[in-house]
Amino acid sequence: MKIIEWNDKYSVGIREIDDQHRTLVNTINKLLEDQRDEYDALKFKTALSSLIHYAYTHFATEEQYMLQAKFPDMDQHIMEHVEFIMKTLDLALKVENGKGESMKELLYYLEKWFSSHVLGTDRLYIPYITKNLK
Ligand SMILES: [Fe+2]
Ligand SMILES: [Fe+2]
Repeated sequence: MKIIEWNDKYSVGIREIDDQHRTLVNTINKLLEDQRDEYDALKFKTALSSLIHYAYTHFATEEQYMLQAKFPDMDQHIMEHVEFIMKTLDLALKVENGKGESMKELLYYLEKWFSSHVLGTDRLYIPYITKNLK
């Protein structure tokens, strides 16, 4: 079972960002797969750490592209990135304190975030960045 299936229609048309989004999908899916049977604190921390680190890397890349392209809604976009980190860490703490009880809530949040941010918000910068790359 996978939480998110990559589909080419999710592509933003910028190779580096698409590659990073694919890695993000894999990282989220890994977190789900690790926790399918029972809660494993060590595996959870490892997968969560990969996810947060990778998200930071990806957000920094995207923000650099937006800055170069003078994307007008950059501030709002960055806020969503910050909120993702804060909410994910908040839910992860709940998972740890409840020994896995909040796992469903965290996985649901990650799935929802992927569809609303990566498949929604991220699409808004496409015309600006692609124009800037030409
Ligand atoms: Fe993104
Ligand atoms: Fe983004």
